[in-house]
Amino acid sequence: MLAHLLAQVGIESVVLEDRSRAHVEQRIRAGVLEQPTVDLLDQLGVGERMHREGLVHHGIEIRFDRQRHRIALSDLTGGKAITIYGQQELVKDLIAARLAAGAPILFEVENVRLGGLDTQRPTISFRDDGRNETLRCSYVAGCDGFHGVSRPTIPDGVLRTFERDYPFAWLGILADVAPSTEELIYASHERGFALHSLRSPSISRLYLQVAPDEDLAAWSDDRIWSELRARLASDGWSLADGPIVDRSLTPLRSFVVEPMQYGRLFLAGDAAHIVPATGAKGLNLAVSDVRALADAITLHERTGDARGLAGYTARCLRRIWRVQDFSWWMSAMLHRLPEEDGFAGRLRRAQLEWLVASEAAARSLAENYVGLPFS
Ligand code: DHB
Repeated sequence: MLAHLLAQVGIESVVLEDRSRAHVEQRIRAGVLEQPTVDLLDQLGVGERMHREGLVHHGIEIRFDRQRHRIALSDLTGGKAITIYGQQELVKDLIAARLAAGAPILFEVENVRLGGLDTQRPTISFRDDGRNETLRCSYVAGCDGFHGVSRPTIPDGVLRTFERDYPFAWLGILADVAPSTEELIYASHERGFALHSLRSPSISRLYLQVAPDEDLAAWSDDRIWSELRARLASDGWSLADGPIVDRSLTPLRSFVVEPMQYGRLFLAGDAAHIVPATGAKGLNLAVSDVRALADAITLHERTGDARGLAGYTARCLRRIWRVQDFSWWMSAMLHRLPEEDGFAGRLRRAQLEWLVASEAAARSLAENYVGLPFS
């Protein structure tokens, strides 16, 4: 996204990826695009297939006590919506557009090292196709995920870390079966949280709250489907099952580093922050970071004004902490703590009841869920 944003204003970049093209195009991740993300893809001219194949949703369902409650996202937000489109599909489109433009994107690079970050001319050295290469850059964008090289390259003592671990994880499946619902279902149940999402009219995506150290091997297909059936149960509704084609375990965590920059290195997305999965904000937050970074670089390149670069962290953090709060709130409301006591359980119940009773409460969820406007 950043490379496309910069290309649009004539700024060259080189994209380095340490995995293969096939790997990043097939890796199953979340699939909910906020309205501002969709609008930005359109602005970049890379949204065509997303509009053709993505599913626009105007509401979500909150389910508890076997009862179904619709949150009318679009009615509550002046017409905004979410688009269901797998992250790997978006990655395919961005790569295809990059290659079609003849702009550099290198896969399976090895041994990436950053240097001279506190100078005007930082370097990136790496191995590509058996050759050692060095790029001299004006800026380095650390868009390399939580486990990437960028964040650990920043000297000790510069970054402060803020984090929370949650006593649960998500067991996610992709199943070859038509979704049993038109809109996403977030279900709070005494056995734990469950989520029914989808990827297409014939592919379902579902999640179960499990323990963080859960053994995936202990979950047969039958066990997964019967647990989903129990947690999603509602009168007059049934869950269709089918072959499970992918399964994964995702721990939930909140993580932020401040600042998000060091000299000419700027962190974006998971390199700087992780949000718990509930609400599907990770991808969208990464998109808003790179929009801010593209603005800052563009201003600096065009006018020499470095205030955008200096203010990058502050601008990003305002949205990041808003989204951290939203994702934390949604997670806390919907998941059952392993040792949940009566007090905590009754508070969660009161939150759920308020959410579906008060239009103001539902609107608050809806505004955050469809995505707040970029600053
Ligand atoms: C999906 C993931 C989420 O984290 C969420 O809140 C909703 C949907 C998904 O993968 O479809």
